[in-house]
Amino acid sequence: MTKRHILIADDDASIRALLRSLLEGDGYRVSEARTGGEVINLLSDGKPVDLLLMDLRMPELSGMDILQRITDQGLGVPVILMTAFGTANIAIKAIQLGAHDYITKPFEIEDVLVTIRRFFEYQELTAEVRALRTQVGARDPTERIVGRSSCMLEIYKTIGKVARTDATVLIMGETGTGKELVAETIHFNSLRRTAPLVKVACASLPETLLESELFGHEKGSFTSAYTQRKGRFELANKGTIFLDEIGEMSLGTQKKLLRVLQEREFERVGGNVPIKVDTRVVAATNKNLLEEVEAGRFRADLYYRLNVITIHMPPLRERKDDIPFLVEHFLDKHRFAPGAPPAKITDEAIELLMRHDWPGNVRELENTIERAVVLAQGGVITGRHLLLTPVSTNRIIDVGDRVRNGVTLEATIADVERLMILEALRQHGGDRSAAAHALGLPRRQLLARMRDLNIEPALETAAAPVGTGASAPS
Ligand SMILES: Nc1ncnc2c1ncn2[C@@H]1O[C@H](COP(=O)(O)OP(=O)(O)OP(=O)(O)O)[C@@H](O)[C@H]1O
Ligand SMILES: [Mg+2]
Repeated sequence: MTKRHILIADDDASIRALLRSLLEGDGYRVSEARTGGEVINLLSDGKPVDLLLMDLRMPELSGMDILQRITDQGLGVPVILMTAFGTANIAIKAIQLGAHDYITKPFEIEDVLVTIRRFFEYQELTAEVRALRTQVGARDPTERIVGRSSCMLEIYKTIGKVARTDATVLIMGETGTGKELVAETIHFNSLRRTAPLVKVACASLPETLLESELFGHEKGSFTSAYTQRKGRFELANKGTIFLDEIGEMSLGTQKKLLRVLQEREFERVGGNVPIKVDTRVVAATNKNLLEEVEAGRFRADLYYRLNVITIHMPPLRERKDDIPFLVEHFLDKHRFAPGAPPAKITDEAIELLMRHDWPGNVRELENTIERAVVLAQGGVITGRHLLLTPVSTNRIIDVGDRVRNGVTLEATIADVERLMILEALRQHGGDRSAAAHALGLPRRQLLARMRDLNIEPALETAAAPVGTGASAPS
């Protein structure tokens, strides 16, 4: 085991020497700093320090200032303060600022050692608890991937081979094919499983916001940057970052991302201190990235960086043999009531599911089953409950007929809107963000329109077909 590294910060050379011999004798590795500036330099240096043992009263920067900087700069080092006897108020303030503990001077040698040992014990315990909690709480997503078709078996093999490496993985596939599920599976089967898996939806943010989301920003770097903030890359340090919908990333952001992939280093927006991270990258897209490269919308060099290992998620229509297994899985997942047994489904209904084309892939299938369970009220699911392909919604609106029948322009526009929204929801398996994207609307606006038009979220595809005259104002 490597020795724990303690940084002693005190302007008094005799105290530093005393603590050094004491701590080295107890098996720690020790460094020394004489001033606040030295402390910050050593910490920013990137060499890991497990504990900072710091005098409150120091030249240049006081212990309080240093604590503040440690928090602000996200240096993440635990601190035990040494304060002169009788300054309890300051000690309390120090704890509030994030110091872990404090020792009063003059100190007993044994007190120092006990305080430090206790700190490391506490740290080990919390790490253990956190690890246990992720294992229990996040239940291994591997158990949730269903499918025995040969293409899925190939995918499991690839995941098995790459999960424990740090290789960048690019997951391509249509909407709802399970890209995010695969990304989770890779993370939870990797050595990084106890560290965070941080997800970023690249399509949902404008360029400047996305950059500050990814890389963080310094205070005042743009109008709304009131405080300094860590980016997702930093939050995912030692873990995995999942860059979803990477095909939507602007060329400017792509350039910055390329640098992170090449050098594992970046600066916060508005900052100039390079930050090093150890973050594994998994990216997903439903676009054909090679086509995007050819069209000049995606950087070729970034494409090749991402494309170290590529996993192609097959559309559900190309692996229909998996449908019965998926149905069984979703019936188990979506019970009519908590504790109720999984609903039953007729062979005829399965037959219909096998014949459907599933443009929204597994997500559409899952939504269909979830809805059928509700519609069947806990009874047996039949074809009636599936509400597949609402053929009539695609009917073209007969303008001549409408004008003749006095249907207003407003009512007709509302009908067209309803049809477009329902169709977009259907094609994207009920995913409203994807539907909004397809319609060229901000998600919020789509939700507002759905409310105005009375489109039932759970029953999108079940809405009444719109025929001529049917919606004439009364
Ligand atoms: N093989 C599978 N087994 C079980 N559930 C699956 C499978 N594939 C997908 N799902 C489920 O389908 C839903 C959609 O999957 P996911 O979000 O991973 O798709 P996606 O490819 O990321 O979609 P999008 O491109 O729209 O973001 C999720 O609820 C997921 O759990
Ligand atoms: Mg997704």
